[in-house]
Amino acid sequence: MTEPTSKPTAATQITLLSEQLEALNRAYHLDDDPLVTDAEYDRLFRELETLEAAHPELLTALSPTQRVGATPRDGFQKVRHALPMLSLSNAFADDEVVDFDRRLSDLIGLEANEQGGCEAIEYLAEPKLDGLAISLRYEQGELVSAATRGDGTTGENVTANIRTIRVIPLKLLGDDWPELLEVRGEVFMARAAFAGLNVRQQAQGEKLFANPRNAAAGSLRQLDPQVTANRPLTLFCYGWGEHSGQLADHHRQVLEQLGSWGLPICPLIKVVSGVAGCHDYYQQMVEQRPDLAYEIDGVVFKVNRRSWQAEVGQVARAPRWAIARKFPAEEALTRLLAIDVQVGRTGAITPVARLEPVQVGGVVVTNATLHNEDEIRRKKLRIGGRVIVRRAGDVIPQVVGMAPDSFTDDPGTLNSVDDFQMPKLCPECDAVIVREQGEAAYRCSGGLSCPAQRKQAIWHFASRTAMDIDGLGEKLVDQLVDAGLLASVADIYRLEHGQLAGLDRMADKSAANLIAAIDNSCQTTLGRFIFALGIRHVGEATGVAIADNFGSMAGLLAADLATLEQIADVGPVVALSLREFLDEPHNRQVVDELLQLGIQWPVIEPKQQAEQTLAGKTFVITGTFSRPRPEIKADLVRLGARVTGSVSKKTDWVAVGDSPGSKADKAAELGLAVINEAQLDQLIEG
Ligand code: IVH
Repeated sequence: MTEPTSKPTAATQITLLSEQLEALNRAYHLDDDPLVTDAEYDRLFRELETLEAAHPELLTALSPTQRVGATPRDGFQKVRHALPMLSLSNAFADDEVVDFDRRLSDLIGLEANEQGGCEAIEYLAEPKLDGLAISLRYEQGELVSAATRGDGTTGENVTANIRTIRVIPLKLLGDDWPELLEVRGEVFMARAAFAGLNVRQQAQGEKLFANPRNAAAGSLRQLDPQVTANRPLTLFCYGWGEHSGQLADHHRQVLEQLGSWGLPICPLIKVVSGVAGCHDYYQQMVEQRPDLAYEIDGVVFKVNRRSWQAEVGQVARAPRWAIARKFPAEEALTRLLAIDVQVGRTGAITPVARLEPVQVGGVVVTNATLHNEDEIRRKKLRIGGRVIVRRAGDVIPQVVGMAPDSFTDDPGTLNSVDDFQMPKLCPECDAVIVREQGEAAYRCSGGLSCPAQRKQAIWHFASRTAMDIDGLGEKLVDQLVDAGLLASVADIYRLEHGQLAGLDRMADKSAANLIAAIDNSCQTTLGRFIFALGIRHVGEATGVAIADNFGSMAGLLAADLATLEQIADVGPVVALSLREFLDEPHNRQVVDELLQLGIQWPVIEPKQQAEQTLAGKTFVITGTFSRPRPEIKADLVRLGARVTGSVSKKTDWVAVGDSPGSKADKAAELGLAVINEAQLDQLIEG
């Protein structure tokens, strides 16, 4: 019989496990350095839960298992801050920082030096985080309460929610902390976490958050801590409130002390000297801002020496010893003048907001993307109304939504966007606009003739796996289209040596080579030609499968949807895409022109619908074979097989040609059936 676990052992185990789990929390959430796998973390967590269940008398609120508690019954209680939570004065230009520094020098009474200037004040420079301020109260090193800033004097008690944020220690590390310590900092959500949250929100049909700050605020003000626990919040501490005992003499040192007690401190803080130091730091942050993992809306400069902070004190509700140098606003209000549509390189049609010009983040914005029709409806956009425009980092400006006051604007000038209708015809080429089943996006069906898609279509047509026109790369396509020499893929075959030789950076020899390459490309295969047309969803293998099935372009042009769906590798989506493309008269005209201009292929006998001898089998093809891989793939697909790109346990056969890659090794590792080209041919021939 085994001895029951004795109490001291269980108590020690619980303490050790709790400390280990909290250290893992810090490593994961603060240092981005997971020390163990998620599974190992979960195992330790369950071990602790089991021990606590067996010894309920040893369970404390400080345990990592107790971060998520019950819903407070009466909403959030009001909390009066022992010391007010101050705000910051703002500076929007360099001059204002100069004035701030001068004011401080006067107040502190710094003597002018021999050069007539003053001794430089040392500042602690910090990023201004874009989240919400929080005050954490620790007594005897234990987190006892947490409150939002509220109006600065009274906030809300959000302790249950704050406890779910894993970077926040429930118990301070070490033993040299003051008995009473209020820590202040900013709760925020990193950009990636925000994006992930919105994806989940959308999948669950929940409302999307406009920006990480709203997401952080919304997440912290949840009545159910379970909800907050699932929101990826984090925190950096930048200050303190009421405390017992003495803290260090310099702001920077106090933050270091807080860090040593396990509180998260922003790694970008830096001590700088005088206005020049502030200016350099601001510039560095402007540059780093787009690459930071979280949003910041400026930088904060704080007098580093605490005796000077005390000396200058505060005015109204902001300290005199600190200032926020704000970045140019990333959001602005303006009027939505109209909603047009724009055609992308691949034919995707996106609605665009035409805006009254407005400065956002330092540039004038006149257009913003609206992504799709659903978004216009979801945001209840109204032409003529005032909208919030946002430009974050170097991304394309976006319309966040209607300004809160816009519905009270003169309603007579507003049109409901129910008026906005996706046009039926492409604004660039008049081809029919189509929408795929279940997709939010619309696209222009005039792939071969649409000016917006021209460059992409020509470049794809000429590419190696399509018509293989050597030398006709992306740059040259751009140049030829811009020079007005190519309006469609058919024009490639109308190019003359003289026209090319007149172009910039085009030597006589290169022009001759290109003309020869174009002539060569006329001899092709039907499969390549179909692929080259750039029909959506029609890849190389599908092109070959279609060619094999019909044997001629005429057969394909005459086929109805049901016939198309019969082809191996062609499902309803591909069939519809083919039909839409071929039904568009502009496309057919270009196809006719291409055939008249001399493109031809060896006649092939249309294959009968093959017996599905490989139905349900999965193949991976790796290495070089005596015939092109798309051809092999098409043969396999015709017989009902699936051809995938990566080897897994589900793979039935791995066909290995010359110089195979790591896929062959992986197949051997998994003990899969590996076959050579001859064996593969045997399988195909049945
Ligand atoms: S110090 C004693 N430092 O900005 C001054 N605030 O506009 C108290 N904020 O309510 C604030 N990053 O929510 C300070 N590094 C930082 C900050 C910061 C963001 C927020 C904070 C404050 C608001 C004032």
